[in-house]
Amino acid sequence: MGEQWEYHVQDRDVTEALTDTLSPEAAEAIRNLGKIADGRGVGAFVVGGVVRDALMKRACEDLDIVVEDDAIDFAEAAARELGGHVKKYRRFGTALLVLGRGVKVDIATSRSESYARPGALPDVAPDPIELDLKRRDFTLNAMAVRINAEGFGELLDPAGGQEDLATGVLRVLHEHSFEDDPTRVLRCVRFAARFSFEVDPLTEQLLQDAVDNDLVSTVSGERIMNEIRLILSEDEVWAPLERLDSLGALASIHAEWRLPENAPHLFSELVAIMEDPVGSIRSATLWHTNFLAAVSALSISDARALLDRLRSGATLRSLVDELARFEVRARERLESENALSRSNVYDTLAALSPETLAVVLASAGPIASRRVALYLSELESVEPVLSGSDLIVLGLEEGTDLGDILTDLRRARLDGFVTSKTEELEFVRRAIRNLDVENKR
Ligand code: CTP
Repeated sequence: MGEQWEYHVQDRDVTEALTDTLSPEAAEAIRNLGKIADGRGVGAFVVGGVVRDALMKRACEDLDIVVEDDAIDFAEAAARELGGHVKKYRRFGTALLVLGRGVKVDIATSRSESYARPGALPDVAPDPIELDLKRRDFTLNAMAVRINAEGFGELLDPAGGQEDLATGVLRVLHEHSFEDDPTRVLRCVRFAARFSFEVDPLTEQLLQDAVDNDLVSTVSGERIMNEIRLILSEDEVWAPLERLDSLGALASIHAEWRLPENAPHLFSELVAIMEDPVGSIRSATLWHTNFLAAVSALSISDARALLDRLRSGATLRSLVDELARFEVRARERLESENALSRSNVYDTLAALSPETLAVVLASAGPIASRRVALYLSELESVEPVLSGSDLIVLGLEEGTDLGDILTDLRRARLDGFVTSKTEELEFVRRAIRNLDVENKR
């Protein structure tokens, strides 16, 4: 190593912090990977979020390792020695090493990066770890810990990450950071919110300049969507979304993207709902639910245009359409003071996905809220005892009539008109007789 870094913590403390925050399997894996690096005569380091989280004493699941070596060759050698398999990403020169007992390690070659233009993917060249750290986004993510047996636990902190961690500051390493990679605008907001850190004033200025210069619009839809997904998967999504909105970053993703007026209330309700989900909401995907809420003020055509911009998959598209249809067709009925039978409540909500139900509940007034709660805790799981095949035994043929009778039977169950199998049988026989009478007319 050419340069000496100033270490604020002892290597021993860093080792201890890593052991505390990594699973025992992951901690063992980095020791083993360090030995493999020794055998190949190369430097190896855990980097980025792993080091940050260790110093913050936060549990960390992802293992990111940088080697002063060809990452794919290194990963293959490690897989041979330790047992495991390798997923290669030739285009990026990186590899995912999957070891036993659920340990996954992202391995990259230590490299410097240059950018042809803002938003472009970087041109990369292998370089020592010191240069690798200098290409990174924020000082707190620009630290590495050596994992070679000799020097294990040595902390490299060229940008002052520890200082910023200690004072709670998020700071870019240089003034072109957001130009190099405008997804850092979204990352900045995400990390600031997650750790409740202040954004350093110069970084704040550069952040606003990046948004004002519309740099986010140069990034591909997939990359923006990935960052949005990460933001919407955080425990606290309102703060970063609100920040993106006030910076003008949502509008630079899609001109009409604004948060709904009731957003603070909506998201705080959603947090409570998703923390303790009831009924089918238990299977809602958190970030999809948050996405629906975040676009709920957009017209359906603007929401669809945003989804096009983000190159969204079919699932999110159909959720957005579903919520829009609900708002047009069913919201008023659900909120109205007019009496709704239990089967009416069921019919209003039955076809909805868990994500839409969560957002409908979060944005419901008191009457609708009681109805959704009743649906989730009780109505949605009401099933008649008799099934389609029972109805065939009773003389019906497969088809519309059978489906209609089953639906009516469920309604009768929901409204308490039938409460036992005997009553269901009576109900169905009567329905068949009525059909016969109608058919004879
Ligand atoms: N990184 C960067 N610029 C980016 C993305 C990533 O410099 N646009 C670097 C940072 O050093 C970061 C590391 O790559 O720490 C790993 O990135 P990633 O896995 O996305 O994030 P983490 O920092 O691990 O954060 P998280 O806890 O959200 O996974």
